[in-house]
Amino acid sequence: MQSFPAVDPIPLPAPIWLLKLLHIVTLSLHFVAVEMLLGGLLLAVLLSLFRSSTLSQVSARALARRLTVVMTFVINLAVPPLLFSQVLYGRALYTSSVLIGIYWISVVGLLMLTYWLLYQFSGRLQAGKSAWFAGLSAWLLAGCIARLLSTNMTLMLRPDVWRQMYSASAMGAFLPPHDVTIEPRWLLMMTGGFFIGGLWLVYLAGRSTFTAEEKRFLAGLGGKLAAFFGVVYLGIGLWAVSVQPEVVRNGLAGNGVWAATGDYSFYKYFGMAGYGWLVLVAAAILAAAVAGFGKVTAKWMSMVVVHLAVLIEIMLVVYRDGVRDITLLSRGYNVWDRAVATNWWVVGLFLILFVGGLGVIGWLISVVARSKKVMEGAA
Ligand code: HEM
Repeated sequence: MQSFPAVDPIPLPAPIWLLKLLHIVTLSLHFVAVEMLLGGLLLAVLLSLFRSSTLSQVSARALARRLTVVMTFVINLAVPPLLFSQVLYGRALYTSSVLIGIYWISVVGLLMLTYWLLYQFSGRLQAGKSAWFAGLSAWLLAGCIARLLSTNMTLMLRPDVWRQMYSASAMGAFLPPHDVTIEPRWLLMMTGGFFIGGLWLVYLAGRSTFTAEEKRFLAGLGGKLAAFFGVVYLGIGLWAVSVQPEVVRNGLAGNGVWAATGDYSFYKYFGMAGYGWLVLVAAAILAAAVAGFGKVTAKWMSMVVVHLAVLIEIMLVVYRDGVRDITLLSRGYNVWDRAVATNWWVVGLFLILFVGGLGVIGWLISVVARSKKVMEGAA
């Protein structure tokens, strides 16, 4: 029985490859920000508990002050991939969103509460007050949001359970039946937080607003954390791949069996991104170990870990995109099978504004970089 709703008769306004490319770029940036939030926040909470250690307090305050800004990036970089995935996968994504409607809509409230708690956490820390409760509450809520997103992104791939869920409640009051892919999927993002959070500390160690002693502390702690959690992250990534159905793993190896509907062997390139991810995570673990055990605070190390973190997220998103497309294809939903009527004027205008927007962000960052420096310990 066909579970996917009828296709929208309005054609797509831009080529599918372009929408997918923009989706991958913007979602990778959303993931970088999400990982900084999930990891950086818990690290800041833990550091804040060592109240007699000046180095821990300076590091906790430095992270907390940045986290409210990171949150704006989490949200602003979330809207574009949400729009692109609704355009490309609307028939699956809208259905799953409606089926868990009450939980899905609760994300808005959870998000506002998390944001408010983040400001409480940061404000209390700057005032020298105990702040762990606000910080930990914000982290738990952010983890719940991540769990709801993983739940929805998994449910959209499971048309087989939609009818049963709709019969149980048309109000969206129930969560989906268990799926073996969800735990590793969610845990990959959660542990990725500590990995990227550790790399973030290594990056901060290269900033001139910290004293030499603070820099060594940040590099030592961040490097060791990233090296340890990098290994855990790698293990969970392999678990996440191992629980994928055979049809998905075959498809990502370029051996899809959909000859009747077309040649999809190009998904082997999406599969290769998985190997790219493995290599880059291994390289980041190595760099983190060097920074952590050697207490390397050089600027080049900061640049190395930033580039590795962004590339790792891009590889993850490309691979994940392949998993989604092949899973849907095996269930009768072909993302490439949509009518397209490209309006090149609109696409051109969009691209000009997109590049212009990136330019403005780059300019803002350069203004901040050139601004008068205040030492973090004195702030
Ligand atoms: C604290 C805030 C947030 C956290 C911790 C968070 C976390 C996550 C995580 C863990 C995923 C991956 C889910 C998976 O595939 O397993 C994800 C994906 C996603 N997030 Fe966020 N997110 C946050 C805020 C938002 C907001 C506000 C939006 C929308 C405006 C959003 C939109 C998305 C979308 C659309 C995806 C998946 C896109 C796709 O697969 O096509 N996120 N997020």
